[in-house]
Amino acid sequence: MNRREFLFSTAAALAIAPRTSFAAAARIEILPDEPIGTISPTIYGHFTEHLGGCIYDGIWVGDGSSIPNAGGIRKSVIDSLRRIKAPVVRWPGGCFADSYNWRDGVGPVDQRPTRTNFWAETDVLKKATGGPQKYEPNRFGTNEFARFCKLSGAEPYFAGNVRALTPYDFYEWIDYCNSPRGATSMAKLRMQGGDPEPFNVQYWGVGNESWGCGGEFTGDEYAVEFRRFITWVPTFGLDLKYIASGPNSFDYAWTHSFFQKMTSEHGRNALNNIFGTALHYYCGTTGNGIANQFDNAQWYELLNKANRMEELVTRHWQIMGGYDPEHKVKLVVDEWGAWHHTDPSIAPNYLWAYYPTMRDALVSSITLDTFNRHADKIAMANAAQLINNIHTSMLAAGDRFTVTPVYHVFDMYAAHQGNTAVRAVFSVPNVPDAAAKGIFGLAGSCSMRGKQVVLTVTNPDLQNPVETEIKVANGANITGARAIVFAAGDPHARNTFAQPDAVKPSAAASVAAASPMMYSFRPASITRLELSLS
Ligand code: AHR
Repeated sequence: MNRREFLFSTAAALAIAPRTSFAAAARIEILPDEPIGTISPTIYGHFTEHLGGCIYDGIWVGDGSSIPNAGGIRKSVIDSLRRIKAPVVRWPGGCFADSYNWRDGVGPVDQRPTRTNFWAETDVLKKATGGPQKYEPNRFGTNEFARFCKLSGAEPYFAGNVRALTPYDFYEWIDYCNSPRGATSMAKLRMQGGDPEPFNVQYWGVGNESWGCGGEFTGDEYAVEFRRFITWVPTFGLDLKYIASGPNSFDYAWTHSFFQKMTSEHGRNALNNIFGTALHYYCGTTGNGIANQFDNAQWYELLNKANRMEELVTRHWQIMGGYDPEHKVKLVVDEWGAWHHTDPSIAPNYLWAYYPTMRDALVSSITLDTFNRHADKIAMANAAQLINNIHTSMLAAGDRFTVTPVYHVFDMYAAHQGNTAVRAVFSVPNVPDAAAKGIFGLAGSCSMRGKQVVLTVTNPDLQNPVETEIKVANGANITGARAIVFAAGDPHARNTFAQPDAVKPSAAASVAAASPMMYSFRPASITRLELSLS
């Protein structure tokens, strides 16, 4: 029996043991000598689109606003992003990107054109009579986004338009952003917008969802477009990181066809300039689609769907390896999250705005732990979206603002950024509830920096705490322990403008360090354990 079989048999045996508060129902073994890779901080990225209330009334309030702002950018968004060490923000879409001409959003503000927003024809937004969400005023453009990133401490990640513009437009946008002060006409245009110095944008997405709203290309067709867009682009001395439009969820055929076309015609060197291929996965919603209306079975249903990120990452990676054995190209998951309907209490301009609940917090922790466990494969990820939208971290309307349970998970997990992910073996029976459909008992990820361990753990079980023995494989002693716990009595709990602190994590009163140590993971909770080893 090998180690893996032993652990599985242990888990099976534990499955029939009753859960008591005295005996360990579960074990977590940390393996410091089995590093996975460095957790790229950019795994903790965000995404903003000119969609609903994300930009206008979300990030952008305008420089004449009475709402606290920095040059028109909502101050509470900047401060909140700084707190969670947001490493990168993607913009301007999404589907909006492939209908966006960046030239509309530069130059004198009063001369910028108004366009119909890509999303104006959606059923919800059609009910809106007007507003910047429907008729794009281009008040927030390249300079404003670059400033927003700088203020927030994040790197900008631009998504180019492959469906409706040309490679030349793409070059000129890069020229506009990155050419040295005064060097080109584009640099002079940028200066007229108030920014003489280059933005030094490194991350460039070549289209968005090119299999769908981004042009309905086949993987083969897109490979040809991709090459046209990235060949002989002016770099201005930067190491530009191109991100190819990747598969929609389980569309393994896309990954095959894109990589096959790239490598069969130009050899493996054709992959040299690709930083990543962008997988999108929304785990969706359940029942009637209202974020806080779900029963126990639907709680587990959504968490089970979120957990499928594991399979997506491993299978797409395996396919990529068939064409790229050195794995020069990494995975970028630049849209992920749950996706519920617009909350019935929210105006139609704010398409897909809703108040995420604790269930969405657990979608986040399950997903971020998956990324950490695959730190060798995932170079970047961007939760969709940052504010007033799908799987949002923040909500704002006028002078009202709140962070959501999703935000709190980013806050808790920021401790993993830049650490070395190490393997941790979870030997835990599945949740003993038929409605849970075999969901894991506990799942999480572990990272280290020197002798400090960060272990994040999700307990999806709505009823039961899980008593767990935690030990370190190489004989190291756990000499210090601290826990931050995010749990709410009611899984439907959420933050609203009226109750912005209804749910938030808190430090556990005391945690006994020992080797091994015992810890009880609360029902429906996310825990960050910080352990000191000697
Ligand atoms: O995030 C909302 C939309 O979902 C994005 O615009 C698109 O890329 C995806 O389909």
